[in-house]
Amino acid sequence: MERIEKQSTQTRTLGRAGIEVSALGFGCWAIGGEWATPDGQPLGWGKVDDEESVRAVRRALDLGVTFFDTADAYGAGHSERVLARALGKRRADVVVATKWGNVVDEERRLLTGNDDSPAYARRALTASLRRLDTDYVDLYQLHLSDADPERGAELRDVCEEFVCEGLIRGYAWSTDDPARAAVFAEGEHCAAVQHRLNVLQDAPELLLLCEESGLASINRSPLAMGLLTGKHTAGRALEAGDIRNAPPAWLPGFTERHGADPEWLARVDALREILTSGGRTLAQGALAWLWARSPRTVPIPGFRSVAQAEENAGAIAEGPLTAGQLAEVDRLLGR
Ligand SMILES: NC(=O)c1ccc[n+]([C@@H]2O[C@H](COP(=O)([O-])OP(=O)(O)OC[C@H]3O[C@@H](n4cnc5c(N)ncnc54)[C@H](OP(=O)(O)O)[C@@H]3O)[C@@H](O)[C@H]2O)c1
Repeated sequence: MERIEKQSTQTRTLGRAGIEVSALGFGCWAIGGEWATPDGQPLGWGKVDDEESVRAVRRALDLGVTFFDTADAYGAGHSERVLARALGKRRADVVVATKWGNVVDEERRLLTGNDDSPAYARRALTASLRRLDTDYVDLYQLHLSDADPERGAELRDVCEEFVCEGLIRGYAWSTDDPARAAVFAEGEHCAAVQHRLNVLQDAPELLLLCEESGLASINRSPLAMGLLTGKHTAGRALEAGDIRNAPPAWLPGFTERHGADPEWLARVDALREILTSGGRTLAQGALAWLWARSPRTVPIPGFRSVAQAEENAGAIAEGPLTAGQLAEVDRLLGR
């Protein structure tokens, strides 16, 4: 009985595709390193050390993490390459998710546009398979969060073709819009929705859709882009190549060249005691909230070091918050 309980809190199934993953995935955006728009808006998280990224992925594998989320755009292809190198022969033991829709110039490390055409989906998949050094992608995700829903339906059918051809095992739309997610949910091999979810930014409608459609809820920004680790202070600028130092409109919680938003930090402070109770670190408590929020959640925190990999993977053994702690979080946030 105890074993069954342990299994259910430490693994999750990616929707109807039946793909089993560790309850925690690792997000590979930051390890792509620097990339930008042609007019200089940073899109990465600043400089990274590829050797440290490789060590961090391998440490995560040793600690039982079996799910890695990347995108063809991260670091303009670099994240997929680093992940492939780190996984090596262990690729067959893990579930790899990547995304398509953004168009990049690999050489110049630039985002040059986007393309929602079915023909581009096939070209992008071919390129990802090459960079990931694999024959198949486990979970293929549409990265264009606000693409036209009718086009989304076409792309869903294209994904079904990819499944038939053995090129992917399942697919998802990375979007915060329940109506768009519902379009993909109609497909037989749709496995998940990837959407923003963290203790400061709830998403009840998407969680309901996942529940009703039998999909996994893959949680991007589970640490509110680092705010929920407790290491940020107001007024401290981040590195020049870090997107959080020049946050676009869709990235709340950080201010232009002045670091974390004080109002967000106050909310993090209000939660510190409850999230760290029982010996968890703040980041581990934030992940524990996500597992308590729904049995379908799979948080995918980003990482840049072995130390972060160890701390985040260490959250798995601690399991979810209790129902009482979940209610206390809502009370503290006035929800
Ligand atoms: N549209 C999309 O599909 C989309 C959008 C966003 C993200 N994602 C996916 O979601 C993943 C995670 O979301 P996110 O990157 O937005 O942010 P996040 O997971 O909320 O925050 C990750 C960042 O927090 C810091 N951190 C992580 N663990 C830490 C620890 N234990 N101690 C201290 N600091 C720690 C690291 O940054 P520093 O070391 O620099 O502080 C790390 O890069 C991404 O990697 C990507 O795979 C997808």
